[in-house]
Amino acid sequence: MSVQTATMLDKDDDPGIRARTLLGQMNLAEKIGQMSQLDASHGHAPDYLGERLRAGQAGSIINIVDVAVVNELQRIAVEESRLGIPLLVGRDVIHGFKTIFPIPLGQAATWNPDLVQEGARIAAMEAAKFGVNWTFAPMIDISRDPRWGRIAESFGECVLLTSELGVAMIKGFQGESLTAAGSIAACAKHFAGYGAVESGRDYATTNIPDNKLRNVYFRPFNAAVDAGVSTLMTSFSDLNGIPASGNSYILKDVLRGEWGFEGFVVSDWDSVRQLQVHGLTDSDRESAFEAASAGVDMEMAGDAYSNHLMGLVEEGRVAIEDIDVAVTNILRVKFELGLFEDPYTDPGELPEIASDLALQAARDTALQSVVLLKNDHNVLPLRSEQLASVAVIGPLADARYEQLGTWIFDGDEELSITPLKAMQSQLGDDVEIRYVRAMEHSRSRVNDEFDVAADVAANSDAVLLFLGEESILSGEAHSRADIGLPGDQVELVRRVRRAGKPVVAVILAGRPLTLSDIVDEVDAILYAWHPGAMGGPAIADLVFGIEVPSGKLPATFPRLVGQIPIYYSQKNGGKPPNRENVVHIDEIDTFAPQTSLGMSAFHLDTCFTPLFPFGHGLSYTWFDYQNIRVSSGEIEFGETVTVSADLTNRGEVEADEVVQLYTRDLVASITRPVKELKGFRRIRLRPHETQTVSFELHTDDLQFYGRDGKRRVEAGLFHAWIGGSSDTQQRTEFRIVEHQ
Ligand code: NOJ
Repeated sequence: MSVQTATMLDKDDDPGIRARTLLGQMNLAEKIGQMSQLDASHGHAPDYLGERLRAGQAGSIINIVDVAVVNELQRIAVEESRLGIPLLVGRDVIHGFKTIFPIPLGQAATWNPDLVQEGARIAAMEAAKFGVNWTFAPMIDISRDPRWGRIAESFGECVLLTSELGVAMIKGFQGESLTAAGSIAACAKHFAGYGAVESGRDYATTNIPDNKLRNVYFRPFNAAVDAGVSTLMTSFSDLNGIPASGNSYILKDVLRGEWGFEGFVVSDWDSVRQLQVHGLTDSDRESAFEAASAGVDMEMAGDAYSNHLMGLVEEGRVAIEDIDVAVTNILRVKFELGLFEDPYTDPGELPEIASDLALQAARDTALQSVVLLKNDHNVLPLRSEQLASVAVIGPLADARYEQLGTWIFDGDEELSITPLKAMQSQLGDDVEIRYVRAMEHSRSRVNDEFDVAADVAANSDAVLLFLGEESILSGEAHSRADIGLPGDQVELVRRVRRAGKPVVAVILAGRPLTLSDIVDEVDAILYAWHPGAMGGPAIADLVFGIEVPSGKLPATFPRLVGQIPIYYSQKNGGKPPNRENVVHIDEIDTFAPQTSLGMSAFHLDTCFTPLFPFGHGLSYTWFDYQNIRVSSGEIEFGETVTVSADLTNRGEVEADEVVQLYTRDLVASITRPVKELKGFRRIRLRPHETQTVSFELHTDDLQFYGRDGKRRVEAGLFHAWIGGSSDTQQRTEFRIVEHQ
């Protein structure tokens, strides 16, 4: 019979006190057990797991979503192990559980924290119904390289947008209270710098100077810690020579020492043992030593801790204090989740799966995630009353699995409504839809059907091309060197274009693609990311003007791969390019002298700007920003300035605009980016309505990490812009002055 830990400790006591009290009763083997997670996915029968759990050899299991099995394993842990410590049941719930929402990058394009929070809440409740009490999300790695397949899982390139949406997702998963039904522990990942892997190759190395770590890569994690995230996951990558899973600087000095994180740190999958592959250690034993000493509290799905920590402690190499801290961190989270009071899952207590509310939220999110990149001559929206027929062409018009995107372990493909199906039910018999798939999949190089497609296009009133990437082309370990439309899609566009009809490209993809090859071949582009189960109805509503696009890019779209990394918050450098000081390769005179080419930071063979900037996104109306102003031209430290603009909807439809505030610190002791997002707000305006939009900026909001690694704000001139994209030119300014 187990020691009845749960009843020995009062549930109202502080979780930290309860954790330490319980720790006092544990032997070393039980402590190491809590620090180990068992992979339950691959043929590990409950019997095998049960034996380990009875012996107190695991604090967590990963990848079981059969609620009866989960309850049985919990029962064994709680009733048949000596101390009765319940299990954390982990699963990747990344953008929905059964009901799949847009990929996180698509969610970021909504710039709508409320929707992100609601989506995570729904995902948490669906997952909790299956016994999951811990998810490995949000991924808040700043991602400035669209070659990296995992950009799909991220919120894009911007520190502020990633931080705010990361916090929203954490709030959704963890709820008002971790003990509430349907709340699950979140995990901010991957700490730290994973998004900076060289050339976007997944798992590759990273080299990030400390100042950049602090001003960019750390900041969303700091925000997640401040928001009370329960857990953090280390990155697979090498950070400045010390892989994250053995990096005590980031895990101990920064995370615990500076930020005061009280949750626990889990390694990534087997990343403790991989310290040897990195070349940091020569054995699993040394890997266990490095990770445990660095502050990795739990090893995910590996056995370095279970095989070696005991010996390392007995030898005195790993301090028992480090073990005790790790175990306390893990137990504290278990107490916070209320697992000691209620370890079991009663599916009946939680809402039904794929409820109307869940599907509606997935649809709303998809709707706000779609970005209208271009719309020549207002070809969109299509007017169904003016069309007799529309050609629907392409491999992604009716691909219900592909529209879900990466990381959909538990996603229910049956819930997907494709754009084709949605348009068919929306248009009924009013407009004839002529569908030609044209390519078996997005990578196909078989173009036998292109003639048929061109023919159908020529005989229809408008053409909708559904292009992009299948879901397998993005996500973990799915990086690409060429991020153009794969297969023969560009050729398909050209052939269809020749039909001479209005052509709209709807692109479903897991990353920003380079669209230079097709941008001038189509009249309009709707960028839908992988929009999830309800992507079809959302796209249909946008194409036919029932709804108005309002998504904005969370990542810069390069013209060519060679421009990467290209992002809005770059530094100015000493020789910034402008329209006057660049020369295109086609315009270089023969025998041009070396210094005649502009001498600025640009590529000869492309434009120095991206194809579409961060924050960009058009509407079926247009928004006018006037009268950008500040409440005061000078503020002192500790004060606030209000930056405002008058926003007018100049068109004939009611629509949302995502208003963005950027600033630049012109002179500082560390050079600062040319623009930094400092605020954003989604505003809905009726036709011809004007609203004043104001942002409060405290001098603390202008802080950055200086040469000494400390946060600071310095006196001097700041520029501030308000607009609908990062390339807004509408500027005002203010100054921070020393107290007189
Ligand atoms: C590896 C991935 O890097 C991580 O993000 C994920 O949560 C774990 N595997 C668990 O599946």
